[in-house]
Order: sequence, then C-alpha cells, then structure tokens
Amino acid sequence: MHEKFSKIGFVLAMAGSAVGLGNAWKFPTMVGNHGGSAFILLYLFFTIFVAAVAFLAESAVGKLGESDTVTSLERIAPSHKKAWSLGGFFMIGAVLIASFYLVVIGWIAYYVVLSFTTLPTQASQAGEIFNNLISNNAAIEILCFSAVFGVVFYTVSKGIKNGIERLNMIMMPMLLVLLILMLLYACFKADGFTSALAFIFIPDFNKIFDAEIILQALGLALFSLSIGVCTISTYSASLNEDTNVFKSVLSIIAINIAVGVMMGLIVFSFIPINASQSAASGPGLIFVSLLSLFGNLGIVGNVLGVMFFISLLFAGITSAVSMIEPFVLYLINHFHFTRVNAILSIGAFVFILGVLCALSYYEPSANALSFSFGANKAKPFFDVLDFLTSNILMPLGALFFSVFVGWVLKKEGLVILFSNYVSVRIFEIWYFLLRFILPLGIIAVAIYSLAKA
Ligand code: PFF
Repeated sequence: MHEKFSKIGFVLAMAGSAVGLGNAWKFPTMVGNHGGSAFILLYLFFTIFVAAVAFLAESAVGKLGESDTVTSLERIAPSHKKAWSLGGFFMIGAVLIASFYLVVIGWIAYYVVLSFTTLPTQASQAGEIFNNLISNNAAIEILCFSAVFGVVFYTVSKGIKNGIERLNMIMMPMLLVLLILMLLYACFKADGFTSALAFIFIPDFNKIFDAEIILQALGLALFSLSIGVCTISTYSASLNEDTNVFKSVLSIIAINIAVGVMMGLIVFSFIPINASQSAASGPGLIFVSLLSLFGNLGIVGNVLGVMFFISLLFAGITSAVSMIEPFVLYLINHFHFTRVNAILSIGAFVFILGVLCALSYYEPSANALSFSFGANKAKPFFDVLDFLTSNILMPLGALFFSVFVGWVLKKEGLVILFSNYVSVRIFEIWYFLLRFILPLGIIAVAIYSLAKA
C-alpha cells in the first residue's frame, strides 16, 4: 500500500499539475496569436467535451487500480491484461514534456532574478535580453535549468506526502494570492483592462474554422489538464477513500480555467492587443513584450515583474513534479528501484533531453539540433518535443483512456465507483461523451488537420 494524499492535498496537487505554463505561458500566447475569444471558446469547448471527460476516465483507472498506471491497467483489464497494460507507457510522454518544460521554467527563474534589476523600457531591448539568453548564453540557460531541475527532482524524491503534497500546499495558495493581487492591480490601474476583457470575452467567429487553430486548441485543452500521459491516473491511485472524485475533478477543472482567464486578463491588460498579435509568435509575448511594459512602470514594474514571474515559477514547478512521479512509481513497483534510484535514472534522461532542448535554440548548435519533416521548415528539437507531446501523444493517450474505460472496462465497476458521487443522469451523460464524442472528436480533429496539412 503506498502513501495517500489528504483530501485537500489531492485537489491542490491535481490543480498544481493542471495549472502550469500551459495556462500562464501557452494560453495567453495562443490567445494573442489566434485572435482572442474565438480561440478561448474552442479551448473551452474542448476542455469540457474532451479533456474533462478524459480526465475522469483516467482518474477512474488510477482509483480502481490503485498503483502505477501499467500495474493498474493490468489489474483492472478484464482480459488481454498484458496488452492493455502497455497503455501505461504513455507516461513516457510526461517525461518528454518535463524536458522542455523545465527549460522554460529555467527561463522564468532567470526572469525572477532579472526583475530585481532595472528592466528594459523598449521591446527591442527586451527582445535582445531574451534572444541573448536562449541563443547566446547557453551556460546561464543550462544553469537555470539545472536549478529548477534540482528543486523538482528533490521534491519528488521526498514522496507523495512529504514532497509533492507539501510543495503544492505551499505554492498553490501563494500562487492564488499573487494572481489576485495582480488582477486587482490590472483592474484598477492598468489602462488596458477593459480592452483585455473584450478581447477575452467577445468572440470573433471568423477565426474559429481553421484546422491549425482547432488542433492547437485541442492540444492546449489536453495539455492544460495534463491529460493522457498517466499523471492523473498516477495521482488518483493515491486518492484518499473518502474523497469525492467527481467533485474534486470539477473543482480542478474550474480552477484551471479560472487561472487561464486570470492570466490572460493580467497579460492583456498590460500588453496592447495589437502589439500582442504581432509579438505573440513564440515566447515573445511574455518574455519580451510584457517585460518592456513592466520596464515602463518603474519600481511598480519591478514589483509586478517579481510577482508575475514567481507565480509562473510556482505554477511550473507544481506541474513538473507531476510529470516525473508516474515513471518513478512504475520503476519502484516493477523493478523494485528505491525512490532515489528511480529519481536518478529518470533524472539523467530528462537532464540530457533538457540540455538538448536548450541547445536547440543556442546559435552554435541550433542547426545541428533542428529537424525537418516533409516539406515543412526545420523545427528546433525543443519545438519537435512540444509538438510531439501536445499534439500527438496527448490526444492518443486521451483516446486510449477513452477506449479502455468506455469500451473495455465493465460499466458496473464504473457505476459503483461513481455512484456515491454523482446522479445516474450525470453519469450517463459522461459515459456517452466518453464512448462516442471524445473518440470521434479526437479522430475528426486528427483527420481534419491531416487533410489540411
Ligand atoms: N498541465 C500543465 C500545464 O498546463 O502547464 C502541463 C502538464 C502537466 C502536462 C503534467 C502534462 C503533465 F503530465
């Protein structure tokens, strides 16, 4: 029997996994890139009808199997146990995500320190700072990456209760307080708050029907709820007996959406919407535009900068720990590794991939670490991993859990699991979405994007 989360610890740890750079970095960037509220509508649609449905299914696997995901699948599959247990290897996706994700958290750590100094007032200067970091200053970049890598792996080495739960119990409430303070400032002091509200809440439907945007919105919905890579099933295996899975999942999803919208409002209150659309490609929005706008606010800008980048740091770290735990638990259960040895093995893998990601933007090695597929322009290794995980592995993982839970597991087991928590009607709606809408949605998006590619 392994360690269990406390009730609140579970919600915070799951919310900690969900709320991360997906909300704080990808969400505002993509919203800026793809024309605001239209993209948000698509994102919400996919969050509710695909990601949330898959979240519950993955959670059910963890709760019923009560072990690492490979073992859980093997235990609960009614037949062909070994074959179904292979689905547990979607956890490799989480480890791949960790490697580029920790590089971005490293940039953020650098920006926390930077925010204590005089900030640039021109976007061009801010652009230079960012460019210098990622293209010319591999040593500093890898140093920052190593520091956050150390924090994340140290936390996971302490286990569920003393490591992961404790970290989330500290960082998540602090994150919330920071967000509320920044939002209040944006609301009362920033000129752009009203246009940010309009940009986020008034939809422009012209922009929705674009294959690329649809795929990105689906990818983001899955990414931001950590779907399909065995994080949710692993955390749910440590779910306390008297925790209401359904209610917890709903609060996690609500927190996740709320943080995304709050982040969007904060970012777009400071960045003029037009500028956001031209600066939004790549990480420019937050690391370039926002930095110079903070720079124009003097000391207030420094305070905002520190608060903003610390909140990103916390959001990122609590997500990163959840990417490591699934594989760690698997190595411990299957190969009788000690937790420390499991951490060291996975750590070595993530470290090497992370350094390669960082070096794929570094000028001297960028060419060697870029890959082209078909006629498309060469992509840095960092972007290849991001695309492979968010747009391929996560949708496939979600599809796997939907088929396994919706079609392979016996319905009675699920009814028993959920009957204490939800009415029959809600259960039936979820079950229908799981069996039909989720897989069809993912397959349709895949075909649509392949056809347009
Ligand atoms: N949900 C996280 C975010 O929005 O940043 C990213 C993530 C965490 C993806 C954990 C996958 C995962 F297993």
